[in-house]
Amino acid sequence: MKDPIKRYTITAALPYTNGPVHIGHLAGVYVPADIYARYQRLQGKDIVFVCGSDEHGVPITIKAKKEGITPQQVVDKYHAIIKQSFEDFGISFDNYSRTSAEIHHKTASHFFENLYNDNKFIEEVTEQFYDEAAGQFLADRFIVGTCPKCGFEESYGDQCENCGTSHNATDLINPKSAITGAIPTLKETKHWFLPLDQYEAWLKEWIIKGHKKDWKTNVYGQCKSWIDDGLRPRAVTRDLDWGIPVPVKGAEGKVLYVWFDAPIGYISATKEWAIREGKDWRPYWRDESTKLLHFIGKDNIVFHCIIFPAMLKADGRYILPDNVPANEFLNLEGNKISTSKNWAVWLHEYLKEFPNQQDVLRYVLTANAPETKDNDFTWSDFQARNNNELVAVFGNFINRVVVLTEKYYQGVVPKPGSLSEVDLQVLKELRAYPAVISSSIERYRFREAQMELMNVARLGNKYLADEEPWKTIKTDEERTKTVMYVALQIASALAVLSEPFLPFTSDKLKVILNIGKGKTALKWSHVASKKGLLPSGHTIGKGELLFSKIEDEQIQQQLDKLQASKKANEVMNATVTPQKETIQFDDFTKLDMRVGTILEAEKMPKAKKLLVLKVDTGIDVRTIVSGIAESFSPEEIIGKKVTVLVNLAPRALRGVDSEGMILMTETPEGKLVFVNPDSDSVVNGATIN
Ligand code: MF3
Ligand code: ZN
Repeated sequence: MKDPIKRYTITAALPYTNGPVHIGHLAGVYVPADIYARYQRLQGKDIVFVCGSDEHGVPITIKAKKEGITPQQVVDKYHAIIKQSFEDFGISFDNYSRTSAEIHHKTASHFFENLYNDNKFIEEVTEQFYDEAAGQFLADRFIVGTCPKCGFEESYGDQCENCGTSHNATDLINPKSAITGAIPTLKETKHWFLPLDQYEAWLKEWIIKGHKKDWKTNVYGQCKSWIDDGLRPRAVTRDLDWGIPVPVKGAEGKVLYVWFDAPIGYISATKEWAIREGKDWRPYWRDESTKLLHFIGKDNIVFHCIIFPAMLKADGRYILPDNVPANEFLNLEGNKISTSKNWAVWLHEYLKEFPNQQDVLRYVLTANAPETKDNDFTWSDFQARNNNELVAVFGNFINRVVVLTEKYYQGVVPKPGSLSEVDLQVLKELRAYPAVISSSIERYRFREAQMELMNVARLGNKYLADEEPWKTIKTDEERTKTVMYVALQIASALAVLSEPFLPFTSDKLKVILNIGKGKTALKWSHVASKKGLLPSGHTIGKGELLFSKIEDEQIQQQLDKLQASKKANEVMNATVTPQKETIQFDDFTKLDMRVGTILEAEKMPKAKKLLVLKVDTGIDVRTIVSGIAESFSPEEIIGKKVTVLVNLAPRALRGVDSEGMILMTETPEGKLVFVNPDSDSVVNGATIN
């Protein structure tokens, strides 16, 4: 039998440092991990909660190229932004490290060396894709092609973002260099492979036999399908110049594969924390009585359930994850969140627009967490959940309790009289909540857990509405004291139970109720005890609103911002008409184009699109029929300087002879625009060539 759990090692996926973090990251990984870590801490458990920046890998070098800076500058910039965002949102890491840290380079190097010395790798010269023009090997995201599994045409070399499969670059169909677009050649190079095939039987035993019952179905299903497909050796080194150098002779110019070094980052982050705290990191990674948990998004499942465990197993001294609670993806207003398309809500921007409203976002993201399927974040849902749940239920209950306690008892918790059936029932229900919420959290069902938390506030509201202390105060002071006493117990239970979900609110509420924070704070278990939470005679603090209403204008602003991103993208992606057949210079000189001015304009009767214009071409004043009536009114174009093709053979349009053509172009939205000279000093008749 396994030892009882003595400690918890909780990890959250290391974010790539090639951009800031958005609500998808928060909802999928960091908020659930934080709820879990805060919850276990509140139980007095020995935990370490680690994360850090994932600073190697191709995306970072690509970003550096794009911005014309070094990879180090890229990671420095985003590491700072990301770290700040996590702090701002109360993600309570015990350590947030980074993979460019020296301690990580050492840890990852040693990890590799140990496996190398133990002959756990296969060393092999194979042919890898090479871009002749760029003069470099094409690893991972430097190469795109068709996924051999699902047919997605823009799969990366190491992983398909569409179906999640992880493969070898040479498996891609129609591979292309992401640097130059060229079709790559094959070139021989030596690499070290982790022979996953040798771990297949063991993985089967461990995942399929061992964890069937408690791993989430999405996680278990993905693992099973990979194992059933058969595992093959995976290269853990790369021909790149950004990363951790491969620490063996004959590996000059090669670095560790980012997915080899990054998960070791969890270990480095633990070491760094242990050094700082004067602790030993080893039990957190090597003692069987430690529960290791990886919080991740679904695209990371293969790495955390197959590859990293195989690495840990190969070393032999490490424990394996007890669970890998991976979430699905969060969409935004019906579309996939995309960094490159700027279709996202960035955490650092949110805080500027909704200052001090971290808990509102945490709440909405948990209420809508993509736990079992992809989910959608919408601004209207955000507003509704804030106004109808946080303000109307949680905030309203606390506000009523605090205001009445101040008004009736100058902020002192009254002494209850004898408790009625209803009071006893309500207090009993209240005492049951810690176990209910715990059970959901322990099973990684955070939406459910948070819903139960709100039910505590609902219980309070209903109790007040039924017992009406604002009425009994006039008729029965004794009864009112009892009711307020019970309501205050519910309020303080909320202060404790909300801590994992709404840490900022919980802190505020503790100040309002004047109950200690930190070591002296009320504990989860106190809520379940019959002793009561707030003794009579205790003086509460000053009232303060916990939540405030979010107005329609604020929501509209956010929607407008997204609309602007969409527009900008359309402009960027507007399809360019392919070039026409080549013409000779003589063909061009046949065109006679002049600067002209529109003198008159009127609608062509019964034709939606046509305007009849009189144009001064410098040569003469002539009639031109132009198909621009849907973009311009006749009045607005009179006096406009335009470009006219004057030697086009006249054509009759609806019985009017048109003697030329006005040059136009079009915006991506389809609005016509004149091609006109950008100087007022050109005169009618000036030739264009
Ligand atoms: N950077 C990866 C991503 O954003 C996650 C790395 S998790 C770790 O998808 F295990 F490698 F650390
Ligand atoms: Zn695929």
